[in-house]
Amino acid sequence: MRDRALNSMVAVEGFEVLIDRDSLAERISELAAQISADYRDKQVVLVVVLKGSFIFAADLVRKLEVDHVIDFMAIGSYGSSQSSSGAVRLLKDLSHDIDGQNVIIVEDIVDSGLTLGYIYANFLARKPKSLEVVALLDKSWNKDAGLDIKYVGFKIPDRFVVGYGLDLDERYRGLPYIAYPKEDEDNL
Ligand code: IMP
Ligand code: MG
Repeated sequence: MRDRALNSMVAVEGFEVLIDRDSLAERISELAAQISADYRDKQVVLVVVLKGSFIFAADLVRKLEVDHVIDFMAIGSYGSSQSSSGAVRLLKDLSHDIDGQNVIIVEDIVDSGLTLGYIYANFLARKPKSLEVVALLDKSWNKDAGLDIKYVGFKIPDRFVVGYGLDLDERYRGLPYIAYPKEDEDNL
């Protein structure tokens, strides 16, 4: 008990909270309601992009009211911890065929749009019946990334964030909120 209280104090001290847990829960319920309405009576394949999207996806699917199956893929991009370099590669492919399926890509955050652009083009070639994206966070909105993201949780400033699945060098994924790490400034 004592350790837990201590951990949460340390966590809050080191971070500036951008989106708290209640706001996340509320917005994710809205996204789930919108998707449930749009896909009523259809079956959906949700593709969770690892690792960052795992917490968002876990909360989203528990609010969904459409028939769905879940698959996972992993993408890596070369570069430093806080910006992508431009080169994207497939680390883990889907387990199932998406030919003829209604596919929704579940992304944690879109920055340059490079990762999503790669996945989108790769999936289109597999001839799904439909292909849409749900992204919890969008930093690409003022960057002319050329992407059409149907479901966006929050448009956020172009600053590095962690928590709720998002990491800084693999740390902080377990924070229950989205925050700016204070150490961000030292690392830039
Ligand atoms: P993009 O290819 O530039 O759009 O970057 C997308 C990927 O970079 C995301 O799926 C994340 O893995 C990572 N990323 C981009 N911005 C952030 C951030 O602010 N915090 C943590 N990871 C990020
Ligand atoms: Mg990601």
